[in-house]
Amino acid sequence: MRKVYKKVSGFIIIVLIICGFRYIDGNTSIYSLNDKDKLVEVTNANGNEKILLVNEKYGLSGNYVPEELSIPNILFSNGSSDEEKHVARTVVNPLEELVKAGKKDGIILLGNSGYRSYKSQEDIYKNRVISQGKKLADAYVAKPGFSEHQTGLCIDITNKNGYFAKGSKEADWLADNCYRFGFIIRYPYGKKNITGIEYEPWHIRYVGKEVAKYIHDNRITLEEYLQR
Ligand code: DAL
Ligand code: ZN
Repeated sequence: MRKVYKKVSGFIIIVLIICGFRYIDGNTSIYSLNDKDKLVEVTNANGNEKILLVNEKYGLSGNYVPEELSIPNILFSNGSSDEEKHVARTVVNPLEELVKAGKKDGIILLGNSGYRSYKSQEDIYKNRVISQGKKLADAYVAKPGFSEHQTGLCIDITNKNGYFAKGSKEADWLADNCYRFGFIIRYPYGKKNITGIEYEPWHIRYVGKEVAKYIHDNRITLEEYLQR
């Protein structure tokens, strides 16, 4: 009798563990693009939707380069390198539309830094550690291989005086409107414990209109969206 009881309770525990994992996983499945790249696939009402998640946990291999990198027809800050003027092809039109809409509202947005190769990110990270120390560097700059900039799906925006902080009319306009064009403020205020990065009002990430609206309306991060 004891043996049967042990077997049954063992079986129940295994079932509970499996159910627990399925509950945590929800509709989200994570699979490898290659050794390090993780593509998070989210199923929504419209079918399959694929979202590339890059953060301190999910990285990209050193040789990951997005397909069809292109230069959007927008103004850039003087400091932008030729490489940084590129974004993934899918981002070009939404970004041009966003900048055009800003202009219509009297808001001039400049591109500052879009795509960055692994090597460029490595240089930026190293220089930031030298100039500001590791703690501050880690708060604002992703380690090479863990930067969304390597995906070409994001871009840092600035304004004419290079001061893009909360309260500036350009940053406030971007926060209120970028979702209409499929972008999110990727590192919102007070969410460092989730994103791993301090508040960056300038860094926008393209996720498509539907996801961007959901994230904007619910005031959540991409990580929270993918875990929901
Ligand atoms: N500033 C962002 C987090 C990056 O370096 O990718
Ligand atoms: Zn950025």
